[in-house]
Amino acid sequence: MRFPLISVLLLYTGAALAQSSPYNYQVTKYMTPRRYAVVSAHPLASEAGAQVMKAGGNAVDAAIATQLALAVVYPEAGNLGGGGFMVARLRNGQSLAIDYREMAPQKAHRDMYLDGNGNAQTRLSLDGHLAAGVPGTVAGLFASHQYAKLPFAKLVAPAIKLAEKGFVITEREAAGLNRRKEDFIRLNTMPTAFVKDTPWKAGDTLVQKDLARTLRLIAQKGAAGFYEGETAEKVVAEMRRGGGIISAADLKGYRAKPRQPLQFKFRGYDILTMPLPSSGGVGIQQMLGMVESYPLEEWGFHSVQSVQVMIEAERRAYADRAKFLGDPDFTSPPLAAITQPSYLKTRMQTFTPGRATPSEAVQAGLVKESMQTTHLSVLDADGNAVSVTTTLNGGYGSKVVVGGAGFLLNNEMDDFSVKPGTPNMYGLIGAEANAIAPRKRMLSSMTPTIVLQHNRPVLIAGTPGGSTIITSVFQTILNALVFNLDAQTTVNAPKFHHQWLPDEVRIEQDFPDSTRAALEKMGYKFVKSGPWSRTEVIKIHPDGKIEAVGDKRGDDSAAGE
Ligand code: GLY
Repeated sequence: MRFPLISVLLLYTGAALAQSSPYNYQVTKYMTPRRYAVVSAHPLASEAGAQVMKAGGNAVDAAIATQLALAVVYPEAGNLGGGGFMVARLRNGQSLAIDYREMAPQKAHRDMYLDGNGNAQTRLSLDGHLAAGVPGTVAGLFASHQYAKLPFAKLVAPAIKLAEKGFVITEREAAGLNRRKEDFIRLNTMPTAFVKDTPWKAGDTLVQKDLARTLRLIAQKGAAGFYEGETAEKVVAEMRRGGGIISAADLKGYRAKPRQPLQFKFRGYDILTMPLPSSGGVGIQQMLGMVESYPLEEWGFHSVQSVQVMIEAERRAYADRAKFLGDPDFTSPPLAAITQPSYLKTRMQTFTPGRATPSEAVQAGLVKESMQTTHLSVLDADGNAVSVTTTLNGGYGSKVVVGGAGFLLNNEMDDFSVKPGTPNMYGLIGAEANAIAPRKRMLSSMTPTIVLQHNRPVLIAGTPGGSTIITSVFQTILNALVFNLDAQTTVNAPKFHHQWLPDEVRIEQDFPDSTRAALEKMGYKFVKSGPWSRTEVIKIHPDGKIEAVGDKRGDDSAAGE
């Protein structure tokens, strides 16, 4: 038996990139590489991306290889059976936004999760076959590939090897698999690689032969190796066995969509981020716009004044999100209106320093989302920057592994409003703009973002965290660019989150007590939770120095040279 040596390097400064073994690897939390960097949720995935750049690939090659490796080594959220968004800024000045969000199957309908009395059966949109949307990730990887340099087969090779030969799992991964064991047994129609008789422990080797075969078919046949033929047939057979509704036509008809990236100004920077069907870009545009004129840097990081203004901006942006936002191919949200500086200024007119605005005084509704997703940030030696957030939605998605194909299906259908206009079991209100319809994309919060100064990337950032993604990216941008925190503190500082409803501020355990106490006196209710939002940041300084930071909250790790 092979035993791993998994250790954490807290500080690492740019030595040559060594290839580590899948049985003996290190977590690198911080590095200052000279040429290129990848940060992702798993050291082996970051390394797969970095090795591709070492072999002559660019940041898009690296992002593809990293995502494919994550689908193997980080099954909790890395995926073939989910979806995601890629935002990129190429050296030639071209900006990209590629949408590979899942789609509702053709047989989906508005009330599919309601019982005979019209009550939402929320477990159905969360667990099992009916929870899955049509996967978008593989189509997205091929849509991105036109901007890459290396053959796709080279990019998928590290993932195939990791699946075929296995890799040792970390303590966190062992705990995740053990936590879900009963779900995997209950929800699957065939044995899966994720279940074994004895509990998983750190150092065990996870081998995924079925997944290796699926990856090989993709390497040989391209996107058709997933959306048609053997793999598609396995998905359809899985649906038949488990009572799901994804059809062969749904799979064959899936297309990733190039979107017009969302770009806006903030204090002299250009923020480049994801448009709808993610609400994330619009969300940070609104929040940054609402706080822009306040003297945050003078007030200071985590000062009572700064946190209050930021909470009130978060509250108002989430209220708008719920009311207006949905798949732009199905609805026409008033985007220009709700991002106008004059509108954002008016929105803050109801803000009273020293007093909490009750959420009932701020109109609209909300969409619920879970916390599991994953992000990767990449910079190559030519200055190409890529920011990708990808997800199965909940941890391990629907928990359904496609029989014989070895990959997990998402539970992204839960990101729709299961019952629009009516509070759900958590008291949250869903919106008509995000009601279920066949072939519609569910609203997302994923916010892959690149900040530019003088047309060059200065910050590549993003995070998982469901509805907290938007506030985390908002705070990351302010931490780095307004509060001038160093790169590691930017990522690791405690976060706070307000999403309009419920009317409470969620804080991480180490949020400062004195700020909380002062805000409580103003009427804010705090709930300690977390940790959440494992943020992956690459910061590029004016003198060319590169800092790559993996969030302390997980096994997140940087690689580069
Ligand atoms: N499933 C999380 C999101 O897309 O926002």
